[in-house]
Amino acid sequence: MKIDNYKEMLELILDHSHEGVVLCDSQGKIRYFNRIYGETFKLSPESDVGKHITEIFPDARIPSVAQTGIPEFGVIYLWKGQKLVVNRIPVKERGKVIGVITQVLFRDVQELRELNEKVNFLQTKIISIGAEFRQYFQAKYTLDDIIGESDQVQQLKSQVIRHAQSSLPVLILGESGTGKELCAHALHHLSPRSKRAFMVINCAAIPKELMESELFGYEQGAFTGAAPKGRIGKLELVEGGTLFFDEIGDMPLEMQAKILRVIEEKEVTKVGGSKPVPVNFALIAASNRDIEDLVQKGGFRSDLYYRINTCVLKIPPLRERKEDILSIVQHLAFSSECNPTKKLIAFSDEVLQALWDHDWPGNIRELKNLVNFAVNNLGREERLVQLNHLPLSFLKARKESSLLNSPLPFKKAMLHHGKEIIQEALKATSGNKMAAARLLGISRSVLYEKLEK
Ligand SMILES: Nc1ncnc2c1ncn2[C@@H]1O[C@H](COP(=O)(O)OP(=O)(O)O)[C@@H](O)[C@H]1O
Ligand SMILES: [Mg+2]
Repeated sequence: MKIDNYKEMLELILDHSHEGVVLCDSQGKIRYFNRIYGETFKLSPESDVGKHITEIFPDARIPSVAQTGIPEFGVIYLWKGQKLVVNRIPVKERGKVIGVITQVLFRDVQELRELNEKVNFLQTKIISIGAEFRQYFQAKYTLDDIIGESDQVQQLKSQVIRHAQSSLPVLILGESGTGKELCAHALHHLSPRSKRAFMVINCAAIPKELMESELFGYEQGAFTGAAPKGRIGKLELVEGGTLFFDEIGDMPLEMQAKILRVIEEKEVTKVGGSKPVPVNFALIAASNRDIEDLVQKGGFRSDLYYRINTCVLKIPPLRERKEDILSIVQHLAFSSECNPTKKLIAFSDEVLQALWDHDWPGNIRELKNLVNFAVNNLGREERLVQLNHLPLSFLKARKESSLLNSPLPFKKAMLHHGKEIIQEALKATSGNKMAAARLLGISRSVLYEKLEK
């Protein structure tokens, strides 16, 4: 049996190999080649063993590998217009090259070609997915979606325009529902990064354990339960776009330290990875909490706070800018998903009065819900929102609060032209604030607040 003899066994293996093998001595003379090598290059052991390799391949690199002793792997060798993948391995004895084994991979060229095609295909696919992906992560709101005529809102909008051009982090502060996320969208939309992704990371909603892999990504097999091929984190995925850290006051302290490092070094290392990759993004953070107070209490890192509080946008609560209510309500009613035909909707005086009297602890989000509710309650042909269209809970709360018989026309006018009306009322009462407040049908404290602005 052939396979009992060691020499014959080796020949058997070599002759059944799908890669060509040739052994040359240190001079470059052919000592051996296997069957497929001979068949491919039309050589026979009888006439070609003993020839110098350059007699067959004038440009053979075997002599030079024999000289340098440096192996070459995966080198492409062009033979009659065909690309072959070649390994040239020097064989050494006590440090001296005594020969060179060359492996020629015929098969793999086809496989390589297929692989290459696959890579090309995937690349094209990634590019198109990338375009689609960016579309998905675009800013949904622009500056025009920030409604309000009050000085506060006008000021806010000009700050948004200014900060959008800067590459510094922006911190947006304000109660829940005041429009922090809306402003973040508008900032990105106006920025030079607007064509790139806008990604939201809700620090209050992502569990602590998941935040790191969500942001940094992880390597293949970084932990049990991880996706088998690993994952790219948002810091990397955003690729020059904007990351919006919503409710940053709720970010765990360890995470804050890591984020600060990313901001400073502009590179990330995946969970379970060792090689950092460069990242590029603009940062917007928002919080409804008093971060300064959090810093004092040890709930927020002061170094991160100093890093992000260079450009600060403070959005005042709705109760401090009630003159915005009318325009916001009209905008919300028109664009409400409960108003698919986009009919123009008006609000009765009583409704406007009720809206004015309310304190809006949930700010514009609360107002939006109320408007949606009312619009949904309108009959097909109805275009006027009246008290009976408002939610019962709202009306009940209203009854409990003061329903003083206030001069309604003034209030309505206030909604339109807050500043002018206050000035007029003060003129009419010769500067008596108490009397002016009474005249306007607002409380003294609200008037003082307004005057302060
Ligand atoms: N000035 C505004 N004009 C119109 N809609 C607003 C305004 N401010 C907020 N909104 C809307 O109110 C809702 C709550 O705003 P959002 O930005 O999510 O608030 P926050 O992030 O501060 O809690 C959103 O639907 C938003 O579009
Ligand atoms: Mg929010």
